[in-house]
Amino acid sequence: MHTIEEYQRIINQRIRELDIVKAPHELYEPIKYTIELGGKRLRPTLCLLAAEMFGATIEDALSSAIAIEIFHNFTLIHDDIMDQAPIRRGKMSVYRKWNENIAILSGDAMMAMAYQYLLKNNPDRLYPIIETFNKFAIEVCEGQQFDMNFESENNLLLSDYIHMIRLKTSVLIAGSLKIGAIIGGAQEEDIQNLYAFGENIGIAFQLKDDYLDVFSNQQKFGKQTGGDILTNKKTFLLLKAYELADLASKKELDTCFAPDGNLEPGDKIERVKAVYRKLKVKDETEKEMYKYYRLALTFLDKIQLPSSHKTEITKLADNLMIRDV
Ligand code: IPE
Ligand code: IPE
Ligand code: MG
Ligand code: MG
Ligand code: MG
Repeated sequence: MHTIEEYQRIINQRIRELDIVKAPHELYEPIKYTIELGGKRLRPTLCLLAAEMFGATIEDALSSAIAIEIFHNFTLIHDDIMDQAPIRRGKMSVYRKWNENIAILSGDAMMAMAYQYLLKNNPDRLYPIIETFNKFAIEVCEGQQFDMNFESENNLLLSDYIHMIRLKTSVLIAGSLKIGAIIGGAQEEDIQNLYAFGENIGIAFQLKDDYLDVFSNQQKFGKQTGGDILTNKKTFLLLKAYELADLASKKELDTCFAPDGNLEPGDKIERVKAVYRKLKVKDETEKEMYKYYRLALTFLDKIQLPSSHKTEITKLADNLMIRDV
């Protein structure tokens, strides 16, 4: 087994070797720009890790890992249009640096590029891999649509939120693990447990993302701090704040998020943050995150592999909970 750092290095190396820029450069430059900007490489790392856990080599799983990272980067390019996000990985988002049409088209090409890399798999395993990939690709779209619908919906439940993030975020994380496990020839029961681990760690991951969106340092996190507040995202933090709010806090949140409100953006962020602080929403978010983290580990436990094979994935899960990027 390799270490997380080794997986990341191998993935970055392979990504640098991709021959991306051709004509027309307006289509390819944004792809190269996004994919070479870095990021944690979480999903391809999980794919390689899972493959090795079940006895495959990195080389067996690398093209699928690359496909998954290309797909993930495509979702980010489109997500930034939908979320009006100006910054991604510390740089201008694609639709801001170029324009929306370019961001849409570059993203479309990336989806097809992802299939080109998936097709490099051994034909014996291709069907379940493509099936897994297609399932999460559709589910991510479902999650993204719920995420946008929720911007203008009120009275949502925490269970609606969890359902939404399971779709927009968890299924890709779980699916990356599953593809790795398929390549490794894992038994069905182990695949299911690994998938359930991924789903729950993915929920914990998105809870942390929502938390960092409010409380991180923009320089470090690489995304606009308070972006979710500005776009009225129904994050765990906001739903929890409403649940815990006294009358005054509820009124303040209603004012901040009034559909016809015209607060200056910085003011809106600060006022919502003040409510979050008052209601200790930060602690509640961490509590919820660790709840899903612990649940995830129960599924990892059930996988029938020696514990030495689970060391790196456990370390990775731990790191995700304490990350600040
Ligand atoms: C961002 O994913 C999208 C979410 C699901 C929160 P990452 O936080 O993994 O982004 P990068 O790839 O490291 O930039
Ligand atoms: C990300 O959700 C989900 C997908 C990109 C599919 P977010 O909108 O929270 O991701 P960030 O914070 O922009 O990375
Ligand atoms: Mg976003
Ligand atoms: Mg989004
Ligand atoms: Mg986010």
